[in-house]
Amino acid sequence: MQQKLFIEHRKNMLNLMEDNSILIEFNRPIINDGAIFNYKYDENRNYFYLTGLFEYENIVILQKINGIESSLILINQYDELKAKWVGAPLSKEEVSKISGINNVRYLDSYNSLINQYSKIIKNIYLDFIPNNSNKLNDEEILAKELKNHYPWLNILNSRPLFTKLRTIKNEEEINQIRKAISITNEGIKNILAHINPLYEYQLESYFDQAIKYNGATGYAFPTIAASGANACCLHYMDNNSKASNGDLILFDLGASYNMYCSDISRTFPINGKFSKRQKEIYNIVLKGQEHVFNFIKPGITTKELNQILIEYYQVELKKIGLIKEGTKEEVLKYYYHGVSHHIGLDCHDLCEYIPLKAGCIISNEPGLYIEEENIGIRIEDDVLVTETGAEWLSKDILKTVEDIENFIKENKK
Ligand code: GLY
Ligand code: MN
Ligand code: MN
Repeated sequence: MQQKLFIEHRKNMLNLMEDNSILIEFNRPIINDGAIFNYKYDENRNYFYLTGLFEYENIVILQKINGIESSLILINQYDELKAKWVGAPLSKEEVSKISGINNVRYLDSYNSLINQYSKIIKNIYLDFIPNNSNKLNDEEILAKELKNHYPWLNILNSRPLFTKLRTIKNEEEINQIRKAISITNEGIKNILAHINPLYEYQLESYFDQAIKYNGATGYAFPTIAASGANACCLHYMDNNSKASNGDLILFDLGASYNMYCSDISRTFPINGKFSKRQKEIYNIVLKGQEHVFNFIKPGITTKELNQILIEYYQVELKKIGLIKEGTKEEVLKYYYHGVSHHIGLDCHDLCEYIPLKAGCIISNEPGLYIEEENIGIRIEDDVLVTETGAEWLSKDILKTVEDIENFIKENKK
């Protein structure tokens, strides 16, 4: 990815910041597991958003002082022993090249820097992660310390600013998601080419190969491979049952590429052919997805999209006799999640709960779950909101009954 993306992200963030402020964003430390290997915590997406860097423990500071904007990064110094165990940190030059930030210093200058800033600024932005526990988290502890040392400074929350910015994706970000989707597509085709009454994890492994082979960052979230009634548990992740001939299997999976996520669900017949009943339910979900898509455009909310799907189900499920009266409550017995969320650096991305705007990327994921019939179906695609409507980003991934059955027939190994 090019540094211009991160330069743009910082420029947009600085635009939102009050004058005479700094914003401090920390990347997480590596955690020593006490065994042979050191391993990292999951990256801080907001740190990556501003810098394009994965380097552990580093700190980026954005400053806006008397209207003049700039940024600096604090990095780890080279340590010979550490380098032998976990690798050398990036050099100052490498850090500049990736992030576009020329002012790169070492972490040991942090305290004196903050002290100098305290004399000339009014506000410090910290990224307060929502905290439901009664223990203070790192940012809350730091805020307390800063307030003790520098009582005249205001501590502000940068999270709403990240939320606002990350709700809208630019061209370069959209392209990363397109690439993540294409890797996911390859993995799905690989699964389909091997579909059989295997264990769920065995079928899942055909997706894993596409992740590794194509240099994806990794998984957007833990893969769900749920056969038969397992698919009625929305976040089933055991993936350890044997799929039966005659059952469906629901895959909810996604690659991430340069940290940007894809989020796709498909439901396939283990023996290559949908039964009459499975096909009937599948097509109701599929048409529901198209129905929702027709409403996606700037101005609508994801909550309204969900309501549209529920109203559609009220009619369609009554038509096939699955529900009697056609009430919302009856529908919720068979459909019990939301149809849409934002997708970006996180699979469930930070987002403002406001009407959609061009540049939002959202999921469109209707499902129906009929446990008593061993049927759980979800069809999920990723959709870009455009100025005039919406674009299916994952339109190339096989979806109709006919296309799925034909693909299996022609490609099964
Ligand atoms: N993969 C989680 C979701 O679809 O929301
Ligand atoms: Mn999903
Ligand atoms: Mn989703």
